[in-house]
Order: sequence, then structure tokens, then C-alpha cells
Amino acid sequence: MSVSDPLVIHELLPEDLVRAEIEPLLRGVWEVVQADAALRPYDDSEPWESFVAGVRAPRTDKHLTRLVATRAGIVVGVGDVCLPLLDNPHLAELGLVVHPDHRRTGVGTRLLAEQERRAAATGRTSWTGGFPAPLEDPAPAHAFAARHGYDVVSGERLKCLTLDPDGSLPAAWTALGAEVAAHAGAYRIEPFDQHVAPARVEGFCALLSRFHDEIPLGELDLHDMAWDAARLAEHEARMDATQQAWFGAVALDADDTVVAFTELALDRAHPVRTWVGGTLVLPEHRGHRLGLAVKLASHTMLRRAYPGCTAVLTGNADVNAPMNAVNERLGYVPVERWVDVQKRVVPT
Ligand SMILES: CC(C)(COP(=O)(O)OP(=O)(O)OC[C@H]1O[C@@H](n2cnc3c(N)ncnc32)[C@H](O)[C@@H]1OP(=O)(O)O)[C@@H](O)C(=O)NCCC(=O)NCCS
Repeated sequence: MSVSDPLVIHELLPEDLVRAEIEPLLRGVWEVVQADAALRPYDDSEPWESFVAGVRAPRTDKHLTRLVATRAGIVVGVGDVCLPLLDNPHLAELGLVVHPDHRRTGVGTRLLAEQERRAAATGRTSWTGGFPAPLEDPAPAHAFAARHGYDVVSGERLKCLTLDPDGSLPAAWTALGAEVAAHAGAYRIEPFDQHVAPARVEGFCALLSRFHDEIPLGELDLHDMAWDAARLAEHEARMDATQQAWFGAVALDADDTVVAFTELALDRAHPVRTWVGGTLVLPEHRGHRLGLAVKLASHTMLRRAYPGCTAVLTGNADVNAPMNAVNERLGYVPVERWVDVQKRVVPT
């Protein structure tokens, strides 16, 4: 293969994903994603089986277009166009990865042009993307995004908590537990494991729905989500179907209203690292150590259920001082940055 071989863009349709003939192409997609993941300063790999289960799991809350670029039959890049269907109707989220061996040969530019053509055809007016970058230096995507008219609109530090392989709880957590108990008052912490208890579904969805408007997002044109019991049930079913453990904790006030939550997701096929999905304490309930309380509860569950999981990753905006303070006390240290870019377009 040489760079003079023509670039071909394919679309992977949902019905194609289950066809045996498509598997080599799908494996090529996975290899591109794994080659990029290998550049991270932490284990960001995903087993083939988990990747396939993930791409095949249907979802009704988002419409996903999957584009694949090949040269001489080899997959060299992948690009997604993700359209939220239940909220944020102005948004097109673009995901783009080029195999490290094939960068600076125009693959990203070709894929992005096709992604933008698709996004424009839907009438979506805010096109967003995100990429990891080293803590101090720029990433290739900084120059790429600038070249294509995308502005950096938000940034956060990705942090990693490294845990002992013997499954023990960090010594510092004992004092944190005592502090949480001293501030609890009438609040109670309730764990959930794979499914949210029926009595908490409404309150849990209300928190998820407010999430984006309660966290610092810079200029990112991302607004409240629309979560209800059906969407949560679909999320839980998808977690089950794709062998993802999903668990966490909520905080309840004296009236049993859900006022805080945190969640973790972990691939059962690769249970060595996990990501914190979201954490939120409603503004009117802040100042009672509830952020620390729910995180301590979920992280303790993690240690007990998955002692071999030695890395927990999370990301928070630099300006999110309270969340950063909680994470620092739990033992998280910055490892990378996450950069959000955006282009606003006038509908044609
Ligand atoms: C960002 C990324 C998609 C670019 O893909 P690519 O195929 O290398 O991009 P192209 O070859 O089309 O580059 C187009 C232009 O972007 C700029 N650019 C891309 N990579 C660059 C780098 N490492 N340094 C400086 N400029 C760069 C240049 O202006 C380049 O044009 P030139 O090669 O004629 O100078 C690729 O580096 C990648 O996959 N990174 C990891 C995933 C990621 O960050 N995705 C999010 C993208 S918003």
C-alpha cells in the first residue's frame, strides 16, 4: 500500500454489522481504535469481543453513522457522526481517528469532509469533537481542528486513580469515611448495581437530565438531556447485553429525594480499569460532603467486586474546583487533557 493508492470511504450500515463478510472491515476499525488507544498513558484498550458487542448493541436515543476509510483494502481511519435524537437537536458529534501509521496523508481531512457533508444534510448547526492531549504539549488534533475551522471551546484534565493490585482500600479513605459520616445529617447513601431501584428511577433520571447544565462546559453547545424511565431501561439493557458492569451510588435527602449520584462502568471482559461516567450533587444540597460520600461508596464497591481493577479514570473541567478537590482527596492525579472543539454553521 502507498499513499498514492486511492482512499475509499465506506459506510457501515447497522444491518451490515451482523454480517460475517463485514468482519474483516470491522476488525480493521477495531485495530485503528486500539492503535490510537496504545498512545494513551494508561490502559485504554478494549477486547475485540467487547468492541463488537458495543457496536452491535442497538440504541434509540442517538443516530450513529459509521464511516470507514480504506487504502488498498486496509482500514486507515474511522469517522462517526452521532446525532442525539431525544435532546440537543442542534448537535452533531463527530468522532474521528486515523491509524498512527497513516497520519498526515490526508485521511482525516477526507473523512471529516464526508462527516461534515452528512452533518450539514441533517441541518444540525453545532458540530463538536473531542480528543485527548498530553498535559503540557499540543496534540496533532489541535492543528488539525484549527486547520478545519474548529475552535477549542472547553477543556478538562483526565485523572487516574491507581489502586493496589491486592484489592485493599487506600489508607486515606478511612479518614474520608469518618468525615463523610460526620457531615451526613439526614442524608443517606444508597448503592445501585446494574439497575436503579424502581423507587429511585424518577429522581435518578431528573439528575441525569440536569447534568449538562450543572457542570462547567465552557462554550460547548451542549445542553440538558432528556432522560426518562424508558431511556434508563434501555441503557441498563445495553449494559447487560454488552457485558458492562454499571454501578454507583445515590444520595437521598430526608424526604427520600435523589439529590446526588455517581456511576462507574467496567468491561467485565477487561476488568482492570474503569471510567467514572458522571457525578452530580444538586446545587441546593452542596456543602454536605455528598460528592465525596457517593464517590467513596462507589469506589469501595469497585474494590470489593473487582479487586483486580487498578485504574479508575475520570475527567473534570479545571474550573470545577469542588469536584477536583474531591478527586484529589481520593488520590486521583492528572494524566492527560481532554479538549472539546466546535464549529457553528449556518444552515444551508
Ligand atoms: C487529528 C487526526 C484525526 C488527523 O488525521 P490526519 O489524517 O493525520 O490529518 P490530515 O493528514 O488530513 O491533516 C490535515 C492537516 O491538519 C494539520 N495537522 C494534522 N496533524 C498534524 C500534526 N501532527 N502537526 C501539525 N499539523 C497537523 C495539518 O495542517 C495537516 O495538513 P498538512 O499535512 O498538509 O500540513 C489524527 O491525528 C488522529 O487520529 N488523532 C487521534 C484522534 C483524534 O485526536 N481525533 C480527534 C480529531 S478532532
